[in-house]
Amino acid sequence: MTGSIVIVGTGITLGSHISPLSRSYIENADVVFAGVADGITELWLKEMHQDVRSFAPLYAEGKSRHQTYQQMIDLMLAEVRLGKKVVGAFYGHPGVFAYAPHKVIELARAEGYAAHMEPGISAADCLHAELGIDPGKVGCQYFETSQYMFYKRSIDPTAYLVLWQVGIAGDKSMARFATGVAYREVLVELLTQHYPLNHEVMLYEAPSLPFQQARIDKLPLSALPQAQMNLKTTLVVPPGKALIKNQAVLDKLAVIRAAEQQPALSHTATAEPPEGEYRLDEL
Ligand SMILES: C[S@@+](CC[C@H](N)C(=O)[O-])C[C@H]1O[C@@H](n2cnc3c(N)ncnc32)[C@H](O)[C@@H]1O
Repeated sequence: MTGSIVIVGTGITLGSHISPLSRSYIENADVVFAGVADGITELWLKEMHQDVRSFAPLYAEGKSRHQTYQQMIDLMLAEVRLGKKVVGAFYGHPGVFAYAPHKVIELARAEGYAAHMEPGISAADCLHAELGIDPGKVGCQYFETSQYMFYKRSIDPTAYLVLWQVGIAGDKSMARFATGVAYREVLVELLTQHYPLNHEVMLYEAPSLPFQQARIDKLPLSALPQAQMNLKTTLVVPPGKALIKNQAVLDKLAVIRAAEQQPALSHTATAEPPEGEYRLDEL
Protein backbone atom coordinates (compact mmCIF):
# COMPACT_ATOMS: atom_id res chain seq x y z
CA MET A 1 0.00 0.00 0.00
CA THR A 2 2.34 2.74 -1.17
CA GLY A 3 -0.32 5.33 -1.91
CA SER A 4 -1.09 7.96 0.68
CA ILE A 5 -3.07 11.13 1.09
CA VAL A 6 -2.56 14.24 3.17
CA ILE A 7 -5.24 16.91 3.31
CA VAL A 8 -3.79 20.34 4.01
CA GLY A 9 -5.30 23.77 4.67
CA THR A 10 -4.08 26.74 2.65
CA GLY A 11 -5.68 29.29 4.97
CA ILE A 12 -7.84 32.24 4.03
CA THR A 13 -5.40 35.01 3.09
CA LEU A 14 -3.24 34.15 0.10
CA GLY A 15 0.27 32.97 0.85
CA SER A 16 0.42 33.87 4.52
CA HIS A 17 -1.80 31.33 6.29
CA ILE A 18 -0.30 27.99 5.28
CA SER A 19 1.88 26.04 7.73
CA PRO A 20 5.46 25.13 6.77
CA LEU A 21 4.55 21.46 7.16
CA SER A 22 1.60 21.74 4.75
CA ARG A 23 3.79 23.55 2.24
CA SER A 24 6.35 20.76 2.51
CA TYR A 25 3.66 18.09 1.86
CA ILE A 26 2.60 20.01 -1.26
CA GLU A 27 6.16 20.34 -2.55
CA ASN A 28 6.87 16.63 -2.05
CA ALA A 29 3.58 15.25 -3.40
CA ASP A 30 3.19 13.33 -6.66
CA VAL A 31 -0.08 15.12 -7.39
CA VAL A 32 -1.89 18.03 -5.72
CA PHE A 33 -5.64 18.60 -5.91
CA ALA A 34 -6.82 22.15 -5.26
CA GLY A 35 -10.11 22.89 -3.50
CA VAL A 36 -9.36 26.58 -3.06
CA ALA A 37 -11.51 29.68 -3.26
CA ASP A 38 -10.03 31.42 -6.32
CA GLY A 39 -7.78 31.22 -9.36
CA ILE A 40 -5.02 33.29 -7.76
CA THR A 41 -4.61 30.73 -4.99
CA GLU A 42 -4.42 28.01 -7.64
CA LEU A 43 -1.63 29.91 -9.43
CA TRP A 44 0.19 30.25 -6.13
CA LEU A 45 -0.10 26.46 -5.59
CA LYS A 46 1.25 25.91 -9.10
CA GLU A 47 4.42 27.75 -8.06
CA MET A 48 4.91 25.03 -5.45
CA HIS A 49 4.06 22.03 -7.65
CA GLN A 50 3.90 21.34 -11.38
CA ASP A 51 0.87 18.99 -11.19
CA VAL A 52 -1.95 20.92 -9.50
CA ARG A 53 -5.44 19.78 -10.51
CA SER A 54 -8.27 22.19 -9.79
CA PHE A 55 -11.62 21.14 -8.35
CA ALA A 56 -13.16 24.44 -9.50
CA PRO A 57 -14.63 23.03 -12.78
CA LEU A 58 -16.60 20.48 -10.73
CA TYR A 59 -18.83 23.23 -9.29
CA ALA A 60 -21.81 24.49 -11.26
CA GLU A 61 -25.02 26.33 -10.40
CA GLY A 62 -27.84 23.77 -10.56
CA LYS A 63 -25.52 20.82 -9.83
CA SER A 64 -25.74 19.31 -6.35
CA ARG A 65 -22.61 19.90 -4.31
CA HIS A 66 -23.06 16.32 -3.00
CA GLN A 67 -22.20 15.16 -6.51
CA THR A 68 -19.26 17.57 -6.70
CA TYR A 69 -17.89 16.33 -3.36
CA GLN A 70 -18.21 12.70 -4.47
CA GLN A 71 -16.29 13.50 -7.66
CA MET A 72 -13.52 15.16 -5.64
CA ILE A 73 -13.26 12.10 -3.40
CA ASP A 74 -13.20 9.71 -6.37
CA LEU A 75 -10.47 11.72 -8.14
CA MET A 76 -8.23 11.80 -5.07
CA LEU A 77 -8.78 8.13 -4.19
CA ALA A 78 -8.05 7.01 -7.76
CA GLU A 79 -4.54 8.51 -7.51
CA VAL A 80 -3.98 7.03 -4.04
CA ARG A 81 -4.88 3.59 -5.41
CA LEU A 82 -2.27 4.08 -8.16
CA GLY A 83 0.32 4.29 -5.37
CA LYS A 84 0.81 8.07 -5.53
CA LYS A 85 1.54 10.53 -2.73
CA VAL A 86 -1.58 12.66 -2.99
CA VAL A 87 -2.22 16.04 -1.41
CA GLY A 88 -5.64 17.65 -1.26
CA ALA A 89 -5.22 21.37 -0.60
CA PHE A 90 -8.39 23.04 0.65
CA TYR A 91 -8.82 26.68 1.62
CA GLY A 92 -9.13 27.68 5.26
CA HIS A 93 -8.91 24.76 7.64
CA PRO A 94 -9.68 21.64 5.58
CA GLY A 95 -11.60 20.06 8.44
CA VAL A 96 -13.88 23.01 9.23
CA PHE A 97 -17.29 22.94 7.53
CA ALA A 98 -15.90 20.69 4.80
CA TYR A 99 -17.26 17.25 3.84
CA ALA A 100 -14.90 15.85 1.20
CA PRO A 101 -11.64 16.23 3.20
CA HIS A 102 -12.95 14.20 6.15
CA LYS A 103 -14.63 11.62 3.94
CA VAL A 104 -11.62 10.92 1.71
CA ILE A 105 -9.44 10.33 4.78
CA GLU A 106 -12.02 7.93 6.21
CA LEU A 107 -12.29 5.98 2.93
CA ALA A 108 -8.53 5.88 2.28
CA ARG A 109 -7.89 4.55 5.78
CA ALA A 110 -10.62 1.93 5.34
CA GLU A 111 -8.71 0.68 2.28
CA GLY A 112 -5.47 0.55 4.28
CA TYR A 113 -3.76 3.69 2.99
CA ALA A 114 -1.99 6.26 5.13
CA ALA A 115 -4.18 9.34 5.36
CA HIS A 116 -4.23 12.36 7.63
CA MET A 117 -5.12 16.04 7.83
CA GLU A 118 -2.95 19.07 8.52
CA PRO A 119 -4.76 22.11 9.95
CA GLY A 120 -4.90 25.48 8.26
CA ILE A 121 -6.05 28.92 9.33
CA SER A 122 -9.82 28.97 9.14
CA ALA A 123 -12.28 31.81 8.61
CA ALA A 124 -13.07 31.10 12.28
CA ASP A 125 -9.50 31.97 13.28
CA CYS A 126 -9.66 35.23 11.30
CA LEU A 127 -13.02 36.05 12.85
CA HIS A 128 -11.82 35.56 16.41
CA ALA A 129 -8.76 37.71 15.69
CA GLU A 130 -10.41 40.53 13.74
CA LEU A 131 -13.68 40.81 15.65
CA GLY A 132 -11.94 40.40 19.01
CA ILE A 133 -14.19 37.52 20.03
CA ASP A 134 -12.68 35.19 22.60
CA PRO A 135 -14.80 32.01 22.61
CA GLY A 136 -13.79 31.43 26.23
CA LYS A 137 -15.42 34.64 27.44
CA VAL A 138 -19.09 33.68 27.22
CA GLY A 139 -18.94 30.73 24.80
CA CYS A 140 -19.44 30.51 21.05
CA GLN A 141 -21.76 28.32 18.98
CA TYR A 142 -21.04 27.38 15.38
CA PHE A 143 -23.84 26.16 13.11
CA GLU A 144 -24.22 25.68 9.41
CA THR A 145 -27.07 28.11 8.65
CA SER A 146 -29.36 25.74 6.75
CA GLN A 147 -28.91 22.99 9.30
CA TYR A 148 -29.83 25.50 11.99
CA MET A 149 -33.01 26.22 10.00
CA PHE A 150 -33.93 22.62 9.09
CA TYR A 151 -33.61 21.14 12.57
CA LYS A 152 -34.77 22.13 16.02
CA ARG A 153 -31.54 23.32 17.58
CA SER A 154 -31.03 24.70 21.06
CA ILE A 155 -29.49 28.15 20.97
CA ASP A 156 -27.87 29.75 23.99
CA PRO A 157 -28.44 33.51 23.59
CA THR A 158 -25.91 34.25 26.35
CA ALA A 159 -23.11 33.03 24.04
CA TYR A 160 -22.00 34.13 20.56
CA LEU A 161 -23.72 32.45 17.63
CA VAL A 162 -21.81 32.09 14.36
CA LEU A 163 -23.79 30.99 11.32
CA TRP A 164 -21.75 29.66 8.38
CA GLN A 165 -22.90 29.63 4.77
CA VAL A 166 -25.51 32.29 5.49
CA GLY A 167 -25.46 33.30 1.80
CA ILE A 168 -27.22 30.02 0.94
CA ALA A 169 -29.49 30.00 4.00
CA GLY A 170 -32.36 27.54 3.62
CA ASP A 171 -31.22 25.93 0.35
CA LYS A 172 -32.30 22.28 0.31
CA SER A 173 -31.09 21.57 -3.20
CA MET A 174 -27.38 22.07 -2.40
CA ALA A 175 -27.23 23.31 -5.98
CA ARG A 176 -27.50 27.09 -5.57
CA PHE A 177 -24.83 29.73 -5.12
CA ALA A 178 -27.24 32.12 -3.36
CA THR A 179 -30.68 32.24 -1.79
CA GLY A 180 -32.84 35.33 -1.56
CA VAL A 181 -34.80 37.60 0.72
CA ALA A 182 -37.66 35.16 1.43
CA TYR A 183 -35.22 32.53 2.76
CA ARG A 184 -33.48 35.04 4.99
CA GLU A 185 -36.79 36.28 6.33
CA VAL A 186 -37.40 32.75 7.62
CA LEU A 187 -33.96 32.80 9.22
CA VAL A 188 -34.67 36.15 10.88
CA GLU A 189 -38.01 34.87 12.14
CA LEU A 190 -36.21 31.91 13.70
CA LEU A 191 -33.60 34.13 15.32
CA THR A 192 -36.25 36.43 16.81
CA GLN A 193 -37.15 33.54 19.13
CA HIS A 194 -33.97 34.53 20.96
CA TYR A 195 -33.03 38.07 19.88
CA PRO A 196 -34.99 41.30 19.33
CA LEU A 197 -35.27 42.64 15.76
CA ASN A 198 -33.02 45.58 16.67
CA HIS A 199 -30.27 43.24 17.94
CA GLU A 200 -27.00 44.16 16.25
CA VAL A 201 -25.44 41.38 14.16
CA MET A 202 -22.32 41.32 11.98
CA LEU A 203 -21.59 40.13 8.46
CA TYR A 204 -17.99 39.10 8.26
CA GLU A 205 -15.68 38.37 5.31
CA ALA A 206 -11.99 37.84 5.96
CA PRO A 207 -9.71 39.13 3.19
CA SER A 208 -8.57 36.61 0.56
CA LEU A 209 -5.69 38.84 -0.56
CA PRO A 210 -3.14 40.46 1.77
CA PHE A 211 -3.89 44.04 0.63
CA GLN A 212 -7.68 43.69 1.07
CA GLN A 213 -9.66 44.81 4.12
CA ALA A 214 -12.03 42.52 6.00
CA ARG A 215 -15.74 43.19 5.63
CA ILE A 216 -17.23 43.83 9.05
CA ASP A 217 -20.76 45.17 8.53
CA LYS A 218 -22.84 45.81 11.62
CA LEU A 219 -26.60 45.89 11.11
CA PRO A 220 -29.82 45.22 13.00
CA LEU A 221 -31.24 41.73 12.68
CA SER A 222 -34.24 43.22 10.87
CA ALA A 223 -31.97 44.38 8.00
CA LEU A 224 -30.51 40.93 7.35
CA PRO A 225 -32.88 39.83 4.54
CA GLN A 226 -31.86 42.79 2.34
CA ALA A 227 -28.14 42.64 3.14
CA GLN A 228 -25.60 41.75 0.47
CA MET A 229 -24.12 38.28 1.01
CA ASN A 230 -22.00 35.83 -0.92
CA LEU A 231 -20.44 32.40 -0.46
CA LYS A 232 -17.73 33.85 1.81
CA THR A 233 -20.07 35.65 4.21
CA THR A 234 -20.35 34.52 7.83
CA LEU A 235 -23.02 35.85 10.19
CA VAL A 236 -22.00 36.66 13.76
CA VAL A 237 -24.72 37.15 16.35
CA PRO A 238 -23.38 38.59 19.63
CA PRO A 239 -25.00 37.51 22.90
CA GLY A 240 -28.48 38.87 23.49
CA LYS A 241 -28.67 38.09 27.19
CA ALA A 242 -26.34 38.15 30.19
CA LEU A 243 -25.06 34.96 31.80
CA ILE A 244 -27.26 33.71 34.64
CA LYS A 245 -25.51 32.22 37.65
CA ASN A 246 -26.27 28.59 38.41
CA GLN A 247 -26.69 29.15 42.14
CA ALA A 248 -27.43 25.49 42.90
CA VAL A 249 -24.07 24.41 41.45
CA LEU A 250 -22.21 27.33 43.02
CA ASP A 251 -23.67 26.37 46.42
CA LYS A 252 -22.55 22.74 46.01
CA LEU A 253 -19.04 23.86 45.06
CA ALA A 254 -18.90 26.21 48.04
CA VAL A 255 -19.68 23.28 50.33
CA ILE A 256 -16.88 21.19 48.76
CA ARG A 257 -14.45 24.09 49.02
CA ALA A 258 -15.30 24.66 52.67
CA ALA A 259 -14.88 20.95 53.41
CA GLU A 260 -11.44 20.91 51.82
CA GLN A 261 -10.21 23.51 54.31
CA GLN A 262 -6.84 23.78 52.65
CA PRO A 263 -4.97 26.82 53.95
CA ALA A 264 -3.01 27.00 50.69
CA LEU A 265 -6.23 27.65 48.78
CA SER A 266 -7.82 30.00 51.25
CA HIS A 267 -6.32 33.16 49.76
CA THR A 268 -7.93 32.44 46.38
CA ALA A 269 -11.24 31.30 47.79
CA THR A 270 -12.89 34.70 47.60
CA ALA A 271 -11.66 35.63 44.09
CA GLU A 272 -14.73 36.02 41.87
CA PRO A 273 -14.80 36.37 38.07
CA PRO A 274 -16.13 39.69 36.78
CA GLU A 275 -19.91 39.79 36.85
CA GLY A 276 -21.50 38.28 33.74
CA GLU A 277 -18.24 36.97 32.40
CA TYR A 278 -16.64 33.60 32.90
CA ARG A 279 -13.17 33.64 34.40
CA LEU A 280 -10.49 32.51 31.99
CA ASP A 281 -7.87 30.61 33.93
CA GLU A 282 -4.45 31.51 32.63
CA LEU A 283 -2.47 28.34 32.05
C1 LIG B 1 -17.72 25.31 3.14
S1 LIG B 1 -17.30 26.44 4.40
C2 LIG B 1 -15.55 26.32 4.34
C3 LIG B 1 -14.85 26.92 5.52
C4 LIG B 1 -13.35 26.77 5.48
N1 LIG B 1 -12.99 25.36 5.49
C5 LIG B 1 -12.65 27.47 6.63
O1 LIG B 1 -11.90 26.84 7.35
O2 LIG B 1 -12.82 28.68 6.78
C6 LIG B 1 -17.69 27.97 3.63
C7 LIG B 1 -18.13 29.01 4.63
O3 LIG B 1 -17.01 29.43 5.39
C8 LIG B 1 -17.12 30.79 5.69
N2 LIG B 1 -16.04 31.51 5.00
C9 LIG B 1 -15.31 31.10 3.97
N3 LIG B 1 -14.43 32.05 3.59
C10 LIG B 1 -14.63 33.09 4.42
C11 LIG B 1 -14.07 34.37 4.55
N4 LIG B 1 -13.10 34.78 3.73
N5 LIG B 1 -14.52 35.19 5.52
C12 LIG B 1 -15.51 34.80 6.36
N6 LIG B 1 -16.07 33.60 6.29
C13 LIG B 1 -15.65 32.76 5.33
C14 LIG B 1 -18.48 31.26 5.15
O4 LIG B 1 -19.45 31.11 6.18
C15 LIG B 1 -18.67 30.28 4.04
O5 LIG B 1 -20.03 30.18 3.65
